[in-house]
Amino acid sequence: MTDNTVDKTRPYAYKITGGKALKGDIEISGSKNAALGIIAAAMMVDGPCTLENVPDISDVHVMVDLCRSLGATIEAPDIHTLVIDPRTINTYKASGALVSKIRASYYLMGALLSRSGQASIRLPGGCNFGQRPIDLHLKAFRLMGARGSRPTDIDNGIVNLKADPLHGANIFFDIVSVGATINAMLAACKAQGKTVINNAAREPHIVDVANFLNAMGARIKGAGTDTIKIDGVPVLPGNFTYSIIPDQIEAGTYMIAAAVTGGDITIHNLIPPHMDPLSAKMREMGYTIEEGDDTIRVYNPYPDEELYAINVKTSPHPGFPTDLQPQTVVLLCKAAGMSRMHENVWQSRFQYVPELAKMGANITVYDRMALVNGVTDFKSATVEATDLRAGAALVCAALAAEGTSFINNAQRIDRGYEHIVSKLTAVGATIERVNVDYTSEDTEA
Ligand code: EPZ
Repeated sequence: MTDNTVDKTRPYAYKITGGKALKGDIEISGSKNAALGIIAAAMMVDGPCTLENVPDISDVHVMVDLCRSLGATIEAPDIHTLVIDPRTINTYKASGALVSKIRASYYLMGALLSRSGQASIRLPGGCNFGQRPIDLHLKAFRLMGARGSRPTDIDNGIVNLKADPLHGANIFFDIVSVGATINAMLAACKAQGKTVINNAAREPHIVDVANFLNAMGARIKGAGTDTIKIDGVPVLPGNFTYSIIPDQIEAGTYMIAAAVTGGDITIHNLIPPHMDPLSAKMREMGYTIEEGDDTIRVYNPYPDEELYAINVKTSPHPGFPTDLQPQTVVLLCKAAGMSRMHENVWQSRFQYVPELAKMGANITVYDRMALVNGVTDFKSATVEATDLRAGAALVCAALAAEGTSFINNAQRIDRGYEHIVSKLTAVGATIERVNVDYTSEDTEA
């Protein structure tokens, strides 16, 4: 079974025959959300660099194509390695169709402002979990001396930023924002003077972007805390090879897939402390989580006993990751009684609930809280992946459900899960991609 057994130019679904306990080993790939920030950051470096452990996923392919469209030279000697030379970049404008395919295209604002003092980028699209503004990104650029960041400056959906040159600033983010923290770091690395980012995001991928930039010659301190200090430097020499951290959310998704099928899986090439919020909640439910140096084993020691209903609240790192929220709700369906999931990061991120209900889930949503009434024995159904992580949640439910399910819009899941078909097949799942005569308006994460 390979991962490319379908015509991906046509709509396709995952066909999953579930009801089997997953057993064996899964290897985690590089972090999508670190890779997207790092590839964009490479565009502001003054020399070549090599990236290793890059995930082979469609969001990364789009970001690479977008950077090539700017003139960057990017070679891929293998599917997990990129050799990047940004010195051939010949424009500061990124407003083509590629930009609207991925939200992370907005990182090019900070990167191109740093590279050439100008950036003209089409605003990312909305998304199906509520408003996704970029006011904090624009505020940071404005404080560092960029003009064109007022909402009234936005011309037909395109942000035109100009700074001669960027200077250091003291930035305070009212809301913890991963994207704004990364964009502010990108703009600050070569700005004149010192920048302090207060109330910064602390996710593992923020630290990875900062470590990449420091390897390129930047002077960033405090990444991973809520205060990041950057001393601007005139040149980022680059000429360095950097390996991307493992994907925290991919790892958590497979931990949940193991648990929800009653399986016993050891997940390799992860950073156990990154999984702490999820590991703690799964232990509360009654699962055993065994940690090694770069592994986690998940299984239920008492399969005949009821799992405990629990409450979960998403929040910025080191809180419970919002990107594991949908998958965790699937797991809460297996607990006896009422569990609660509070979504505190996104305005509304429960669009997948009606799809889960088709598979037997009993969930009531009150604004930003989902009340989950277990125990659910999932049943197979035809459902739709409403976004990347919602789709991953439906995969977990389909793996647990007796019978054959179809998950439409499976391309949304392929945005963030490398070789998911072969990884799940290797632990006993029956899953394949099949072309279907179904499509819906595509959104972007
Ligand atoms: C990143 O999105 C991730 N995407 C998301 O993962 C993740 O859900 C999110 O961080 C939170 O962890 C990538 O890294 C590519 P935010 P981002 O800025 O940066 C509000 C996935 O599944 N906000 O941290 O866009 C915003 O509306 C994706 O991999 C503003 O108000 O998220 C939200 O309520 C989905 N103004 C909150 O902050 C701004 O200028 C957090 O958003 C920016 C954000």
